[in-house]
Amino acid sequence: MFESLQPMPADAILGLIVEHRNDPRPEKIDLGVGVYRDASGQTPVPDTVKQAEKRLLATQSSKAYIGTAGDALFNASMQALTFDAAAPDDRLITIQTPGGSGSLRVAAGIVLRAKENPTVWVSTPTWANHEPLLGGAGMTLKEYPYYDRHGHVIQIDAMLETLRAAPKGDLVLFHACCHNPSGLDPSVEQWRAITDVLLERELVPFIDLAYQGFAKNLDDDAFAIRHMASHLPEMIVTSSCSKNFGLYRDRVGTLSVLVASAATVPILASQLSHYVRTLYSMPPDHGAAIVSIILNDDDLRAQWIGEVSEMRDRIHDMRALLSDALKAKAPDHDFSHLLRANGMFCFLGVTAEQVARLKKDYGIYMVDSSRINVAGITAENVDYLASSIAAVL
Ligand code: LMR
Repeated sequence: MFESLQPMPADAILGLIVEHRNDPRPEKIDLGVGVYRDASGQTPVPDTVKQAEKRLLATQSSKAYIGTAGDALFNASMQALTFDAAAPDDRLITIQTPGGSGSLRVAAGIVLRAKENPTVWVSTPTWANHEPLLGGAGMTLKEYPYYDRHGHVIQIDAMLETLRAAPKGDLVLFHACCHNPSGLDPSVEQWRAITDVLLERELVPFIDLAYQGFAKNLDDDAFAIRHMASHLPEMIVTSSCSKNFGLYRDRVGTLSVLVASAATVPILASQLSHYVRTLYSMPPDHGAAIVSIILNDDDLRAQWIGEVSEMRDRIHDMRALLSDALKAKAPDHDFSHLLRANGMFCFLGVTAEQVARLKKDYGIYMVDSSRINVAGITAENVDYLASSIAAVL
């Protein structure tokens, strides 16, 4: 039966991990996949995670099943971290999911149960896996303008105009902060204007929160979610603990759904439970248990907030370092847009051919669109990186 299958192309982002790993050049630089790296180029396990894990191992008395929705304390803690008090508790439901991608997949599945032929509008561009993931689940995708590749700014007017023309009831996917791949986030005023259009057009926000804490701080990065939750009747939020807790491979996330009426909550809960049972039965527990310990212990929580700040500050510093190095090595080119971005990503703004040359001639890996993960920059490699970029310009 399987002889009929054809090989698939490597994943645009994950394929770079393997290519970089197999590159024997010692000077190679990985600016591809979105994982945080410290000054020594490692993706560390945060100290709070180590401490919580130790506590978990010492106290966990059973690994019996918990259930389709995961751990209730984890869900409540994550819901509070995301929404604070912005959404009415009696209209909000949160379940544990296998990472942000698992959450997106469950969200798509439940929307498909609730609505015939649902359409979700995604930004141009968006995370490379949004379209295959949501489209593969059966949703129709349409695009709204977002990033102006020439001016390196958000096309807010074109975006609002497109959303104003979207049919009532459609979903609109947003990145709560640290837009992937552009790094450009709407301002508070722009989020307010977007919310007004959603309200007026009766559109449903579907917000992907993968980098809470990596732009400004944990609260400001949730502004769009909290503002929309207090102004709109319905919304979907998918969140990930991969980046801010460094729990990438443990697959920890949540799906929150705000519904228009409290009476819908138990029905939605039973639908989610049934859907999850048919998909993966229940989410993995270990990483979520660690997050729950951290969020519910005052000392660990305070230390974790410090760890997130440290990651955010390093990313910010590396962005500035690259910008300065490029100013020196390529003075005729304007890279000022690098400094406008939030989080790990931004577009370098070079062509696909130049990206290919950076890989082939210099061992520098980035996504074809020229999206770079600035966490891959270090004080040691920035000169080589800037000189290589200057050489291919
Ligand atoms: C990325 O965009 O690089 C990250 O979100 C990792 C992934 O799964 O693609």
